[in-house]
Amino acid sequence: MRIDVVSMFPELFTGPLHTSLLGKAIAARRLEVNLVDLRTHGLGPHRSVDDATYGGGAGMVMRPEPIFAAVEAVAEEGSHIVLLSPRGTRLNQSVVQRLAAHEHLILVCGRYEGVDERVAEHLTDDEISIGDYVLAGGELAALVVIEAVSRLLPGVLGNETSLADESHTGGLLEYPQFTRPASYRGWKVPGVLLSGDHGAVERWRRDQAERITRERRPDLLDP
Ligand code: ADE
Repeated sequence: MRIDVVSMFPELFTGPLHTSLLGKAIAARRLEVNLVDLRTHGLGPHRSVDDATYGGGAGMVMRPEPIFAAVEAVAEEGSHIVLLSPRGTRLNQSVVQRLAAHEHLILVCGRYEGVDERVAEHLTDDEISIGDYVLAGGELAALVVIEAVSRLLPGVLGNETSLADESHTGGLLEYPQFTRPASYRGWKVPGVLLSGDHGAVERWRRDQAERITRERRPDLLDP
């Protein structure tokens, strides 16, 4: 998959894109990420990308021309263009799966008080929020999307079966996991996990996943 990211702060991406899972996915060419500095498409001698809001009010709004130019410079037939904004559809695992099915994503990071509405209306295919809170801009949200999507690409996670059990994939939160030691400070690993009885382990995990989901996220059981 290829992802182009349009941002005023491409340097925000360098650490995360070179580390751990994303670093390996890029090195293995399963994922290609291209950072587009919005400022290079800015207007006039100051490469301006924002202006005052029509109708009055505090703060600046990102102008449409630099964003259209930056996106159109990298867009191809079939590119899926996403605006990150607190006003978007809330990201969840099924949205991540839908995004992961595209060959090419273009992520547009808003900043300031907002983005000229013509971007959302006439340029982007999707507007996505990573949660009901407001960040200073879409960059960290874009990184969340990139990491969540990359995990689903073939060959990126070592053990693909681990995707099947994890939280949010089967509609439940994940069951508790334990490793050695079998007893730590007197806290014991549940005996069933040491029993070697695979059927009993399966049942225990299912019960635990349901219990945890019921306690923490009843909305997932009864949407
Ligand atoms: N930009 C600012 N806040 C955001 C959020 N919650 N999700 C996506 N983009 C954002």
